[in-house]
Amino acid sequence: MNFDTIISGGTLVTDTETFAADIGITDGRITAIAETLDGAAQTIDATGKLVLPGGIDSHVHLAQPSGPEVVMADDFASGTLAAAFGGNTTVMPFCLQEKGKGLREALTAYHALADGNCHIDVSFHVIVSDPSAGVLGQDIPALVEDGYTSIKVFMTYDDLVLNDRELLGVMDAARHSGAFVMVHAEGYDTIRFLTEKLEQAGKTAPYYHGPSRPVAVEREATHRAISLAEIVDVPIMIVHVSNRAAIEEIERARARGLNIRAETCPQYLVLTEDDMQGDAMEGAKFVCSPPPRGTDDQDACWQGLIDGTFDVFSSDHCPFRYTEDGKLTPKGEKSFRYVPNGIPGVETRLPILFSEGVTKGRIDLNRFVALSSTYHAKTYGMYPQKGALAVGSDADIVLWDADMTRTIRQEDLHHGCDYTPFEGLEVTGWPVLTMLRGQVVTQGDTLATTTPGGAYVARARSPDAVQ
Ligand code: URP
Ligand code: ZN
Ligand code: ZN
Ligand code: ZN
Repeated sequence: MNFDTIISGGTLVTDTETFAADIGITDGRITAIAETLDGAAQTIDATGKLVLPGGIDSHVHLAQPSGPEVVMADDFASGTLAAAFGGNTTVMPFCLQEKGKGLREALTAYHALADGNCHIDVSFHVIVSDPSAGVLGQDIPALVEDGYTSIKVFMTYDDLVLNDRELLGVMDAARHSGAFVMVHAEGYDTIRFLTEKLEQAGKTAPYYHGPSRPVAVEREATHRAISLAEIVDVPIMIVHVSNRAAIEEIERARARGLNIRAETCPQYLVLTEDDMQGDAMEGAKFVCSPPPRGTDDQDACWQGLIDGTFDVFSSDHCPFRYTEDGKLTPKGEKSFRYVPNGIPGVETRLPILFSEGVTKGRIDLNRFVALSSTYHAKTYGMYPQKGALAVGSDADIVLWDADMTRTIRQEDLHHGCDYTPFEGLEVTGWPVLTMLRGQVVTQGDTLATTTPGGAYVARARSPDAVQ
């Protein structure tokens, strides 16, 4: 036998090319790509299907502590299972530093949760919540050497917010160690001010989560993050960008020659602030930060996906159950202020981008692969091990049915959440087989493996980071 597995008869799509070919796989890696191959223990017929590099979701939250009485709806097992059914082969969750503790302790705790329980490969970003001298001087450089090469910082949230001095400290440590910084850009003080005003006026329904953090809050923080990065001279990634004004800040920075990268997410393409109206607390199902905006902002996000302002499209999967330990429960409080921020989406990211993007003619197949896989691998130092259909790459492969039409329904999903904010959305294009390093993980609606085969991926420095 030449190969363990051949995938035959499909149409291969990479970030740059589309062509008919067979793929030969040996020991979990792609060992041949040719017009026709034969001699394998197993052949998978991909006739009529697209053959894509497995999706990489570089922004997901799994098992992240989220406050008293609140439990994240997905652990590593359920979150990676849902991701696999959604056509992903690698996810990048966040490892949260507890205040007063070091980054190593945080990583040890997350590895204990993840190792042996993941259905696909996993690599961690580290959230720095307490940038002490030890964290900046020792932990960050050491972790980068060990393959944890990206850091997220927050400009809001009571437990996570860093002030400008602290943000500069993290960015400077990143500059000197070659870490890549992701920034959550929303302004803490303004959100607090507006939240108090809204509460005083009795405006506490989930809908007011949006007005508590309007576009100007995100635009201002985006501008400030870019300015701080400029001062330290370090590239950054602005994550979950939701609107036109923030995009314009990013474009202005790039026009000045700064290396500012940007990410957007499905919720900013297909949800709007109107979804948060609903009866009573129903709007809580859409509470995420930044919040869904208006249709002009959706158009701007699409334009950014088309023209290259965005090169990563992630889910920001951050699931909280609606009925239990999640959106409604914290202390029985009914103000939007207490609703945990975040929505599920790891299983629906690729079908939404494909259907709204490729099927509707906004982006082509190669752009789809770039936005959903290849650029994630490149940006975060995993390419070409991940994100590529190439000889030598991991055989992380998805077969995609471009013609399959489905309606997104909670009852069909595999996440631990009890709802989907995308309920009822009709999509054309769905993953029909997900393969991780040569092993079929999911086929149709069936889990094909008996034990979770996902592994931790240590990463190289981002090519964007200062080396
Ligand atoms: O609302 C959101 N996005 N929750 C997840 C945490 C974050 O800021 O990414
Ligand atoms: Zn310096
Ligand atoms: Zn964030
Ligand atoms: Zn997030």
